[in-house]
Amino acid sequence: MSGKFISFEGPDGAGKTSVIQQIKADLVDQLGDNRVLYTREPGGSPIAEQIRRVLFAPENKNMDARTEALLFAASRRQHVVSTLRPALAAGKVVLCDRYLDSSLVYQGAGRQLGMETIWKLNQYAIDGLLPNLTINLDVPSELGLRRIAEHRSNQVNRLDKEKLSFHHMVRHAFLELQKADPDRIKLIDSSQSLDRVVADVKRVINQRYPELFANEIQR
Ligand code: TYD
Repeated sequence: MSGKFISFEGPDGAGKTSVIQQIKADLVDQLGDNRVLYTREPGGSPIAEQIRRVLFAPENKNMDARTEALLFAASRRQHVVSTLRPALAAGKVVLCDRYLDSSLVYQGAGRQLGMETIWKLNQYAIDGLLPNLTINLDVPSELGLRRIAEHRSNQVNRLDKEKLSFHHMVRHAFLELQKADPDRIKLIDSSQSLDRVVADVKRVINQRYPELFANEIQR
């Protein structure tokens, strides 16, 4: 069976990581541990994780926006080669916590480098590897920021500290991407409870890949 590449995107505070962990646990129940891979960006391979540390180090707050975009793309390139392609070639279901769309949105729109420019830059990095399905966990900016403040105040990263206007821009850019590519990108209302969000995500995955949750649905 060929692999399936599912990316999860959305503004900060959408609850993305909790949702993916739940989806991963349910998929492992269905398919077994060796058929499901959770990975994340920036990072997801040893070299890419080193680049992640540079990107998020608080002492790097003066990083130039183009440098930042290039580092995200470099980290992605290594992730594609070392982790994503091999897992997909082995037939795994890959759940990827952020991918290309985050760069289009955060660097292209948020940092105003232009989505087209970031798209071109990333062509070199991804070399044709787009997700089969992207789940956009959408959350209003005020709620997303409130969740970050409440739940992870001890681990707020450099980018989380951007202003509310930046978060608005990010959210709207994600929504625009979804409108431009509704076949790949599916919108989920992530202001709901975790259980409901997970159920909605499963429904969307099931529409595309009925075989993945087949046993669970029969039960
Ligand atoms: P992270 O701590 O992984 O948390 P989360 O994904 O749950 O928000 O933070 C990733 C941050 O990096 C997030 O603020 C979005 C940002 N980012 C970009 O700006 N560009 C990118 O290409 C990627 C992958 C992430």
